[in-house]
Amino acid sequence: MKGGVQDFAARGLDLRALAEQWMDLSEMVPGPGTLPLAVQPYGPEEVAEAIATLLDGRLTMGPKVATFERLWAAEVGAEHCVMVNSGSSALLVMLNALVALGRLRPGDEVIVPAVTWSTSLFSVAQAGLRPVLVDVHPDSLCLEGSFDRPVLAVHLLGQPARVQAPLVLEDACGAHGARIGEQPVGSIGSAAAFSFFFSHHLTTGEGGAITCSDAELADACRSVRAHGWTRERSDRAAQEASHAEIDPRFLFVTSGFNLRPTELAGAFGIHQVPRLRAFVQQRNDNHLDWCAAVADLGLPLRVFPQRPGTTHSGFAFPMLLDADSPLDRAELCRRLEARGVQTRPISGSNLARQPAFAAVPGARVEGPLPVADAVHTRGLFVGQSHAFGPAQRDLLVDALRSAFLC
Ligand SMILES: Cc1ncc(COP(=O)(O)O)c(C=O)c1O
Repeated sequence: MKGGVQDFAARGLDLRALAEQWMDLSEMVPGPGTLPLAVQPYGPEEVAEAIATLLDGRLTMGPKVATFERLWAAEVGAEHCVMVNSGSSALLVMLNALVALGRLRPGDEVIVPAVTWSTSLFSVAQAGLRPVLVDVHPDSLCLEGSFDRPVLAVHLLGQPARVQAPLVLEDACGAHGARIGEQPVGSIGSAAAFSFFFSHHLTTGEGGAITCSDAELADACRSVRAHGWTRERSDRAAQEASHAEIDPRFLFVTSGFNLRPTELAGAFGIHQVPRLRAFVQQRNDNHLDWCAAVADLGLPLRVFPQRPGTTHSGFAFPMLLDADSPLDRAELCRRLEARGVQTRPISGSNLARQPAFAAVPGARVEGPLPVADAVHTRGLFVGQSHAFGPAQRDLLVDALRSAFLC
């Protein structure tokens, strides 16, 4: 590729060797006696490609983003991929594009799980739709079953959500490589959003993408991503022909934002995609192994094993304290952190109990939320990574055992 690492190597500049010489590769594995939320998820290939991109003088979205989009669509089993600058932006673009096409109408209700990330909820309202929070299944912490309205199916922390609905949209921001049967998340619903934030299975630092197999929707996403204009649309020529009175260089056909990624994100992404399957395999192995090891301890907390017929992609490792646990969540987290195990609440926990909920236009709760409430007060997660293995499992097991002893 012009402006790529190979191109510079052919001209005598070995950027790969330079990056390898100057990077601290020990950052790519966890330090001894630690279980961090994430480790440095990129190596010399990504850094070399980023330098090549800068040396080539191309910082704004260009051919490396386009290459990444092709690679990611193929990986997910979707026909189209539209890269953006975050997972939150992917949700925003996907939902606004559906509204722009009239597939969702302003004021339509969209079911959202009560336990998810904040922007899963906000993006629905920001697209002029009304989010309806519904409780999650106690065994998966995801929505499960049939719904009579459009659903944002969040595959929480790597656990695939199995739903049926008139319109299924996936929030796969934290579930790259997860599967239902043989089908990868990202190709299950009508469209899906991914995040490539630092700690995710695949990272571009900040970044995200929409995947779908619908050319019209992909084109709408391309316009919503960038100013509402026609560049990068597959039907650009037809759009220009039907608005011949407007200068095609600045032709705006939908309402839009500017949520484009930089070319640096593409440079990172093209080197990450080929590694994803091995990463997901390791995360899945870890998840199964850790679930068994923690369950064997017989402590007053539960884990969330892989659901039958699915592949869990282990974004993080959630646990839920029993209601009668002698330790509360704050104390358990304090004791784990003291042993080098980093902890977090389970995403936004019960979003209906977050202060921001009252300010989300049109949002409401449907039905009781006992699982979300339990997660809110008793749930926590620790990190998971393809760089982890038995040493991190043993640390977790030991830290949990001793937390309940003292
Ligand atoms: C389920 C879910 N949705 C949306 C997001 C937002 O992604 P980003 O941080 O890239 O905006 C995240 C982030 O982890 C997430 O886990």
